[in-house]
Amino acid sequence: MENPHFAFFEGLIVPIEEAKISIMTHALHYGTAAFAGLRAYWEADDHQLYLFRPLDHFRRFRASAEMLYIDLPYTPEQLRDIAISLLQREGYHTDTYLRPLVYKSQPTIGVRLHDLTSDIAMFALPFGSYMEHEEGINVTVSSWRRVDDNAIPPRGKICGAYVNSALTKTEATLDGFDDALVLDQEGHVAEASAANFFMVRNGKVITPPVYANILEGITRNTCRTLLLNELCMDIEERPIDRTELFSADEAFLCGTAVQIAAITSVDHHRIGGGVMGPVVKELRRLFFRMVHGKLSHYRHWVEPVYSMEAIH
Ligand SMILES: Cc1ncc(COP(=O)(O)O)c(C=O)c1O
Repeated sequence: MENPHFAFFEGLIVPIEEAKISIMTHALHYGTAAFAGLRAYWEADDHQLYLFRPLDHFRRFRASAEMLYIDLPYTPEQLRDIAISLLQREGYHTDTYLRPLVYKSQPTIGVRLHDLTSDIAMFALPFGSYMEHEEGINVTVSSWRRVDDNAIPPRGKICGAYVNSALTKTEATLDGFDDALVLDQEGHVAEASAANFFMVRNGKVITPPVYANILEGITRNTCRTLLLNELCMDIEERPIDRTELFSADEAFLCGTAVQIAAITSVDHHRIGGGVMGPVVKELRRLFFRMVHGKLSHYRHWVEPVYSMEAIH
């Protein structure tokens, strides 16, 4: 993975080597931070980098910060502009991942959220696939349960909560799977370690509802829109039992990092024929065209990073 050259740090874009924090930083000890993750896609035909749904990501970033009693001093539009300046400074001509972070920066001891300073940082690096085989992944059902909304809100991207994701991902990987589906306290499917879950059964699309201790994924919302509007499919948002997974005709994970990954087995039970099915295939085709700015009616979701003067 290539390192970034710059970071937005303490209000300025600086060389990455200058973006350093103290080992006493509160967030490092207690997980009192929140993050976002965005992708920007390089489209060679347009000689353009398209940042995907930045305002939606930054709205959720602000909401996550609020859960930690942080009132961000930037609007989503200002954060988008900072992201674009950073990407321009890097000058990437390749697919890129952008990581905004807000953290309790005070060098102090004591578990709390109030009366602490906070800071924002952002960096971007070249990033390809997150999953090795997006066209067919093998998942397991984790022995870990998803953090509950009344423990640490999964609706926010709260850093401390990602120990839950890390436990599930590592267990799955060490057991030879690509990822894990995680059940909530009631035993219903919530989501994967860092992606939302959908399945197709008898011609209907089913996904866990927003109250199932999931992150309200922006890719989830994107997939819903494409499935409804372009594939004309019905979508049911309802609890999914563990064994209903085995009756799925198709299933997939979706998220900014994962993009759209077809699930071809769950705990060694083949999904569909054990290969990517037609719905996931078409959804992926539309998704990748859209993020590359090729679907005109979704152009409002992609933000060009380079100005026309810079291109020509
Ligand atoms: C726990 C979790 N669920 C779902 C997602 C997908 O969210 P999005 O599509 O907004 O990236 C992520 C992405 O980071 C995640 O960490």
